[in-house]
Amino acid sequence: MHGRATDADPAFRADVLAGLSAPIKAVPARWLYDLRGSELFEEITRLPEYYPTRVETGLLERHCGEVAEIAGTGDAVVEFGSGSSTKTPILLRAVAPSAYVPIDISGAFLREAADALRGRFPDLPIHPVEGDFMRAIALPREIEGATRLGFFPGSTIGNMVARTAVDLLRAMKDTLGVGAFLLIGMDRIKQVDVLLRAYDDAAGVTAEFNLNLLRRINRELEGNVPVDRFRHRALWNDALARIEMHLEAMADVAFTVAGRRFEMKAGETIHTENSHKYGVREARLLLAAAGWGVAKEWTDAEERFALLLARAEPPRSAP
Ligand code: AVJ
Repeated sequence: MHGRATDADPAFRADVLAGLSAPIKAVPARWLYDLRGSELFEEITRLPEYYPTRVETGLLERHCGEVAEIAGTGDAVVEFGSGSSTKTPILLRAVAPSAYVPIDISGAFLREAADALRGRFPDLPIHPVEGDFMRAIALPREIEGATRLGFFPGSTIGNMVARTAVDLLRAMKDTLGVGAFLLIGMDRIKQVDVLLRAYDDAAGVTAEFNLNLLRRINRELEGNVPVDRFRHRALWNDALARIEMHLEAMADVAFTVAGRRFEMKAGETIHTENSHKYGVREARLLLAAAGWGVAKEWTDAEERFALLLARAEPPRSAP
C-alpha cells in the first residue's frame, strides 16, 4: 500500500515543506531513493552513459588483490551502507575477511543484504549494525582486535558538500579507529560533456529518477504538483566541482503539498541532488582534513574514477 499524508515519514514532510518554502528551493537527495527511486537508480547504473558503476567495479576486480596485500587478510570489513550485491563480494573474496559488518540506517535493507551475502559466503561471520554512520558507532564485540577495513564505494561521498563529507570521514575514523583502512570510491573531475551525459541520459532514466521525487510528494504528502510541467535538468557547477540535478518548472505553476500552497515561476528550479567530483589533490585534501592519509590510489586508463585506500592516522600537529 502506498503511504498517505497521515502515515508518511514526518521527516520527509518536514524536509519537503521547508525545502519548498526556502528562497532557493531544494529537497535533500536522500528522498529520491524510495522503492521506485532505488529501482530507477539500479537502472541508471546499467546505462551506457553512466560510467561510474562499471568503472569502479572494474577497478575493484583489478586491484582488490593489492588491497589485501596492503591492508592484510583476515580483517573485519566494515561497509558503510548495506552493500551492493555486485561490489561487496569482489572485496570479500579478495581480502578473506574474518568478519563482515554492514552498517545501515535501514534495518530492512540491512537484513536483505546480509541474507544475500550469507548465501554466497556461508562461513563468513556477518554482524549487521543498524545505525546512522554519520556519527561514530560502537562496532560489535566480535570484531575486537581485528584490523578494520572500511568500505565506502559508489562515490556516495560525492552527494555531500565538503563540510558534511569531512564530518562523515571523521565519524568513520572514530568508528574504525587509528590504524584502520578505508577503501573509498570517488568520481573524478572530467570533461563536462561526459559528466552531463552521465546525468542526463538519452533514454531519460535519470530524468524519470529525478521526476519521481515529485510523484512521491504527490503520493505521500497529498500533493498536486503538476509533474508534466517540470523537466529534469543536470548542470555542471564549475566553482564547486559538482553536477547538480534540478527540477525546473517549464511554466508558472501553483500547487499544494500537505495543505500548503506553493508557487514557482517558469524557469525556477528545485535543487534535488549534488554529485561532487574530485581531482587527485582535492581527494587527498578531503581525506587529510578528516585525518586519513592515502596509502594507495588506483584509477582507470581514462582517469574517470578513483579508488583510494586510506589509512587513519594518529593525531599529529607538528609540521
Ligand atoms: C548514488 C550518489 C553515487 O551521484 O552518481 C546518479 C546518484 N544521481 N544519477 C551519483 C545519481 C543521478 C549517484 N550516487
